Amino acid sequence: MAGTTETMGTGLPRGFRSAEQGWPELHRIPHPPRRLPLLGDVLGADRHRPLQDSMRFARELGPVFRRRAFGKEFVFVWGSRFVADLADESRFAKHVGLGVANLRPLAGDGLFTAYNHEPNWQLAHDVLAPGFGREAMEGYHGMMLAVTGRLTDHWDRQLAAGRTVDVPGDMTRLTLETIARTGFGHDFGSFERERPHPFVTAMVGTLSYAQQLNSVPGPLAPLLLRAAARRNAADMAYLNRTVDGLVAARRRSGGGEGDLLDRMLATAHPETGERLSAENVRKQVITFLVAGHETTSGALSFALYHLARHPEIAARARAEVDRVWGDTERPAYDRIAKLRYVRRVLDESLRLWPTAPAFAREARQDTVLAGEHPMRRGAWAMVLTPMLHREPEVWGEDAERFDPDRFTAPAVRARPPHVFKPFGTGARACIGRQFALHEATLVLGLLLRRYDLSADPGYRLTVAERLTLMPEGLRLRLERRPRRPEARTPGGADTRLHRTGATPPS
Ligand code: HEM
Repeated sequence: MAGTTETMGTGLPRGFRSAEQGWPELHRIPHPPRRLPLLGDVLGADRHRPLQDSMRFARELGPVFRRRAFGKEFVFVWGSRFVADLADESRFAKHVGLGVANLRPLAGDGLFTAYNHEPNWQLAHDVLAPGFGREAMEGYHGMMLAVTGRLTDHWDRQLAAGRTVDVPGDMTRLTLETIARTGFGHDFGSFERERPHPFVTAMVGTLSYAQQLNSVPGPLAPLLLRAAARRNAADMAYLNRTVDGLVAARRRSGGGEGDLLDRMLATAHPETGERLSAENVRKQVITFLVAGHETTSGALSFALYHLARHPEIAARARAEVDRVWGDTERPAYDRIAKLRYVRRVLDESLRLWPTAPAFAREARQDTVLAGEHPMRRGAWAMVLTPMLHREPEVWGEDAERFDPDRFTAPAVRARPPHVFKPFGTGARACIGRQFALHEATLVLGLLLRRYDLSADPGYRLTVAERLTLMPEGLRLRLERRPRRPEARTPGGADTRLHRTGATPPS
């Protein structure tokens, strides 16, 4: 769908095409039974948890359903047969819709929010993709270890003071510092602050605002959201100022160590010789600072929640870390992917709560979805990933149960393709997937080995939504594990991670 950077003041992107126009047989798609005139399907809805509302409707209405809001219809899809069809890149593509489109004023034609037809998508993709290749990742590894060392220093201090730890808050500190350091040579000093860095507060503000725009009835939006819109403008201005400062410092210094920012500023497209414009660099820096930490922070937080809830799974994961890493506190790059079980814990966490929980797909041409529902060119649907990941026919009747062994190689091979999509699909799937998985596996390995983790028995999982998902209010109690007597690596000296402080190893 073509569009501009603005919304119409109604929360809907300009040029928005509703399902009435795009789905000629919309009447065949079920909707919630009790609809209110003007407002649509809002009965029982929780404005702060639209995704979990949609999950509830999905359970009632089946694999393809619709909801009405702002006087417009929206189609949601989660049945694996339909999602597999939407993954066909020859007939469907990413749709920049709703929440994602609402981020356009901030992230413009940056990689995540670019419309498919915008030339800066391909240019930035080609220039930045090598920044996520193996060689680049190896370069980030030492910095990821160093940032994790800052986290464990912080957790050791909390432990010594007899305090529990704030999991989402600290995972956000960790992942923000990691992307800032590896991507932009920048240090936000998150672990030295009591409260979240203002960058995080402003980011959460804009993400929440983008989500809010989706849930306020169209004609009333400008009125109801006046104060929120003012705050959002201030948040955006702060984010832009931060990024401009960071870029200006790099230009003054004459270049970094070949990180993402260097690529953005200096690398020409290998074929066309074209470079990113200054305005586009600003959009990309914001995009990577936000996309590069918020979702990984949630993924780590959910994984820690499950590990704390399932001591037998934690014990198995820890035994793997001990076996594969020995006692080296600075595991080498190629030791991370060897933590197969820890990786399964992560996959299983992302199955139940994929932290970027929906993505939208649009028809490139007139077509029929899975042979059942006609769609006109430009018509689109929202894929509800957490429901796709719970489909009983694929995952079994016990799909709600946390079981990392769903991700053993034979179990994965036995399932059809396109049933596990935490990183989206096709050409516009997540560029940072390997980065996130490497970082999260490394962090879980180090934390498991250092601490026993337990949740407050009274804690009930509540999932907070701000376009992304996060376990709300999760705190863990830590106990330091005794070091094993043979404090040697399988092949080298034992250097203590937490003593390396913030200095990245070369
Ligand atoms: C567990 C962590 C992560 C999850 C669950 C996740 C999920 C996703 C999903 C679902 C999409 C596709 C969205 C759509 O189709 O509209 C996406 C795209 C993207 N992600 Fe991630 N992501 C994660 C980590 C990262 C990291 C670490 C980075 C950067 C360092 C990153 C950067 C991006 C970018 C730039 C895009 C847009 C790609 C494009 O359209 O070309 N993500 N991510």
